[in-house]
Amino acid sequence: MTDKANIANRNIVLEIKDLHKSFGDNHVLNGFSMQLHQGENLVIMGKSGSGKSVMIKCLVGLMEADSGAITVMGNDITKLNQESLDILRADIGFLFQGSALYDSMTVRENLEFPLRRHTKKFGDNVDTEKLVIEALENVGLISAIDLMPAELSGGMKRRIAIARTLILQPKIILYDEPTSGLDPITAKEIIILMQEIQKKYNTSSLIITHDVDCARVISDRMILLIHGIDYAVGTFKELSVSKDPKIKAFFKQ
Ligand SMILES: Nc1ncnc2c1ncn2[C@@H]1O[C@H](COP(=O)(O)OP(=O)(O)O)[C@@H](O)[C@H]1O
Ligand SMILES: [Mg+2]
Repeated sequence: MTDKANIANRNIVLEIKDLHKSFGDNHVLNGFSMQLHQGENLVIMGKSGSGKSVMIKCLVGLMEADSGAITVMGNDITKLNQESLDILRADIGFLFQGSALYDSMTVRENLEFPLRRHTKKFGDNVDTEKLVIEALENVGLISAIDLMPAELSGGMKRRIAIARTLILQPKIILYDEPTSGLDPITAKEIIILMQEIQKKYNTSSLIITHDVDCARVISDRMILLIHGIDYAVGTFKELSVSKDPKIKAFFKQ
């Protein structure tokens, strides 16, 4: 948890209002809204297939929403031109579900990749080597710099994926299921790493998970995504004592 009071009084860095997204008759998001505050760890929990990844993909522009407003650091992203959108995107780190490293590239090349895509952020004289090394040091894996993804364990892959997200020094990090597919001990290590990153860089994080332990440890606030809406919002403590059967179901594990 972020050790700071009055989260609600801080600036809103990311806001979603009344987001709708359907695939034919499959109405996935039916008016989902949320606000992420500066420095906050906001956890979004929802059952498998409830639309968590769809929501995050709309947020980063990988999917187009049917309707709704998305504001990032004061900018309505639906109204930005491509160039402004690219600049804004460099401030948002996205950890894909799975890890999604490029299998044919070394760890070093995987980390260099986002730097090549976002050349505007650091200018032409960027010291790529220094940034790669710093990102790997942040996740404790400098020794893996010349390895291929196939040579890494699941936990190491996740760390490298986090390093690749960090290399652009994002102000906001979106984590899609950061602990899924990992054993409980490795999952805990990843959660600790996420907390360290938050402390070091004062990032604001949106963390999508169905891992109750992860939510308990890391969340300042939580949103339960049920029926395509922000069904319940509150702290872990508040939501975990709810009498609503739909909310209770999340905490019975
Ligand atoms: N590209 C797509 N085309 C059609 N349906 C999709 C697509 N992406 C996701 N869906 C559907 O949207 C729903 C939510 O998916 P998703 O957001 O991936 O769930 P989760 O909450 O597990 O991340 C599912 O019913 C899924 O089948
Ligand atoms: Mg998902």
